[in-house]
Amino acid sequence: MRFGYFDDQHREYVITRPDTPLPWINYLGSEAYFGLISNTAGGYSFYQDARLRRLTRYRYNNVPLDFGGRYLYLRDAESGEFWSPSWMPTRLPLEEYACRHGLGYSVIGGTRAGIEARTRYFVPLGETLEVWQTTITNHRDTPATLDLFASIEFALWDAQDDATNFQRNLNIGEVEVVEGVIYHKTEYRERRNHFAYFACSEPPVAFETQREAFLGPYRGWDAPEAVERGALNNSIAHGWAPVGAHQVHLTLTPGESRQIIFVLGYHENPRRAKFEDAALQVLNKRTVKPIIARYTDASGVDAAFEALESYWESLLARFQVQTPDAETDRMVNIWNAYQCMITFNLSRSASYFESGVGRGMGFRDSNQDLLGFVHMIPERARERILDIAATQLPDGGAYHQYQPLTKRGNDAVGGGFNDDPLWLVLAVAAYVKETGDWDILNTPVPYDNQPGTETPLYEHLQRALQYTLDRCGPHGLPLIGHADWNDCLNLNTFSEEPGQSFQVLQSQDGKTAESVFIAGLFVLAAEEMAQMANGKWQNQLPPTDAPFAIRHSQFYIDAAREMTAAVLAEGWDGEWFLRAYDHFSHKVGSHACEEGQIFIEPQGICVMADIGVKSDLAERALAAVEEHLATPHGIVLNQPAYTRYHVELGEITSYPPGYKENAGIFCHTNPWIMIAETVLGRGDRAFDYYKRICPAAREAISDVHRSEPYVYAQMIAGKDAPTHGEAKNSWLTGTAAWNFVAITQHILGIRPTFAGLEIAPVIPADWAGFTATRVFRGVTYHITVERIGPGNDVGLAVDDTPTVGNIVPLPRDGRTEIHVKAVVGRVDTS
Ligand code: BGC
Ligand code: NOJ
Repeated sequence: MRFGYFDDQHREYVITRPDTPLPWINYLGSEAYFGLISNTAGGYSFYQDARLRRLTRYRYNNVPLDFGGRYLYLRDAESGEFWSPSWMPTRLPLEEYACRHGLGYSVIGGTRAGIEARTRYFVPLGETLEVWQTTITNHRDTPATLDLFASIEFALWDAQDDATNFQRNLNIGEVEVVEGVIYHKTEYRERRNHFAYFACSEPPVAFETQREAFLGPYRGWDAPEAVERGALNNSIAHGWAPVGAHQVHLTLTPGESRQIIFVLGYHENPRRAKFEDAALQVLNKRTVKPIIARYTDASGVDAAFEALESYWESLLARFQVQTPDAETDRMVNIWNAYQCMITFNLSRSASYFESGVGRGMGFRDSNQDLLGFVHMIPERARERILDIAATQLPDGGAYHQYQPLTKRGNDAVGGGFNDDPLWLVLAVAAYVKETGDWDILNTPVPYDNQPGTETPLYEHLQRALQYTLDRCGPHGLPLIGHADWNDCLNLNTFSEEPGQSFQVLQSQDGKTAESVFIAGLFVLAAEEMAQMANGKWQNQLPPTDAPFAIRHSQFYIDAAREMTAAVLAEGWDGEWFLRAYDHFSHKVGSHACEEGQIFIEPQGICVMADIGVKSDLAERALAAVEEHLATPHGIVLNQPAYTRYHVELGEITSYPPGYKENAGIFCHTNPWIMIAETVLGRGDRAFDYYKRICPAAREAISDVHRSEPYVYAQMIAGKDAPTHGEAKNSWLTGTAAWNFVAITQHILGIRPTFAGLEIAPVIPADWAGFTATRVFRGVTYHITVERIGPGNDVGLAVDDTPTVGNIVPLPRDGRTEIHVKAVVGRVDTS
């Protein structure tokens, strides 16, 4: 069952009924100002940091679901009836409804009683505000007299405090209303130099800023008293809960349309120019007024929207494909790339499953998110790498999280997740491959943000790898620390008290529990490092006194070989790779275990790192994945699921069987298996796994999948769960980046390397081929792939000249358009 459809031409998903199984959301903003918006206009906005600069209030886990947002009400002056064109919050039936979620915007609206109202919500590029552009049309054959109300509820900035510290917060709310603009200035009198505002293109008839005055006592957003009455009362909030509400009076002749624009924004003043009148504490509005004027004007808004459209057009144009599979095209060309931008911007901070107060940016998460984003805006990826690396600790380790606003590591869960630093190596390698910017490796970056500690970025990577080498356990495998990629495999925690953090508590000395996953990841990272060690960047170091001891390529080749040997000796269980050794040096993920005999992560990462590929181990590991872990809805994380709590294994065994890390289809890991299948040259299998979790391919079962069909969710309930196939935790997941990497670089096989763009497709046997356009290091490559027989052999012709190998050489003559023809497969000559 579907709740809408893909409009590929407009790059939109169109939801045609408001009662989707869950709120199906979109994101507004791509730089500093962000908003979450559901298909019925629910959600909230913030500036940079979902916790520390929350503009509007949102109540998570509320009933009814998703109550609170950017709400409009229309009231018919004659009948007195009022409704919401986005269905919520009044939920009065609409004769027609649509939500078009597009790239950085959503258009939501519907028709009731012959009055159509549609609102386009978006954040103009370069601005810290959102525009609500509403068009109201009278389809009646009589004139309509209407009132339009627009409303938001302000948050008092720190979302955590806002939701808890009422004894203070109910006293501090302050607003000013000047020339029809509502300014929210709580705490501006003291240490803040930022405020929010809510403006309207029409001279409003009246406004409201005190929530109680707008809603009326004991009422909700579904039936505000002031809307019911048809008149706002110009209330000024002193404490309690400041809101912003405007009333606009409209008379529309039959067939007439009117556009009204509302602007919700964030603005900062210089500290020394905070007040227009310091004695009266009047807000200085000098610099914000021109901004408000620009965006309450229809032509300014239309121009801003066109600019947003061209921005996305040019970002997506960097990678476009036409394959025999429409769902692949839809994901690669539009939605997967879009989701990669969102995860790059927000990490795991704010979604409908992440409250925005719990976490900052994850060190490992952000490094992985970058893998799917780097081709779009390499400059931003560069900045991100330097920010992340600057939080790295001198011993090579990492804070698990950092705060986007301060760009500092935070202590929320500390460090000691022993995989963390290795992801930095993969991110930097991906960046250098994409850009050829070897210079980044020479860029001075501090440790723990301490000035004076700077070393070239390359040394950060050296320390990252050394961190693993310094922490190996009894089997020569890396110690796991609090956890590796699987945050819930907590082998040193041994938690017996409810509420203890599985990730923070460490009861054991941590000197025995080892991770085969980290071993695989280390090999992968060391192989990248070996290549980077040979790179051009070294020419730029001062010839005699390099600022640090550079380890050369051979060191990392040897380190990778030794770690591979340790995995083969101690990390192979007989038919698949072992997952770990616990604190007692007992095996985890072994056929000898009672539960949790096989795990997906080491099968993926070890094969990706080329471990066991020359022998038949990789093949056997992937056969075991297929036999034990694969389901029609995707590949589960482990089997058998844990049915009871194992204190020595931690949070993984806290989940009921089939959910999350305990045998859920933890989608992030599935692309590792897809990539591993391509390493073995098996395009059919890789693509089959790709399609099982591909959201667009699951659209037809939206009633089972329940989450948005246009973006990946973190988890689909596994085969042990009563709700097998149901997706949860949509949007903010490493699944986005890794699937983008798996399909584009390994299945379609268009892969940036240090030496140039490699063409190595491992596509399904029945594909006749595909075409692609890829912008790489300033050159546009027009690629045609044609299958000429079975297998994955590649023959290349670049601008009609046959070329040896499958890396397209970078043009030396300044050409910016290159045509590449690749033939794939063997011609059967027998
Ligand atoms: C979740 C993990 C997550 C961790 C973060 C756990 O409850 O299952 O997916 O990484 O929390 O701390
Ligand atoms: C979500 C976390 O954000 C990520 O860092 C972790 O790798 C996965 N959960 C698996 O536990």
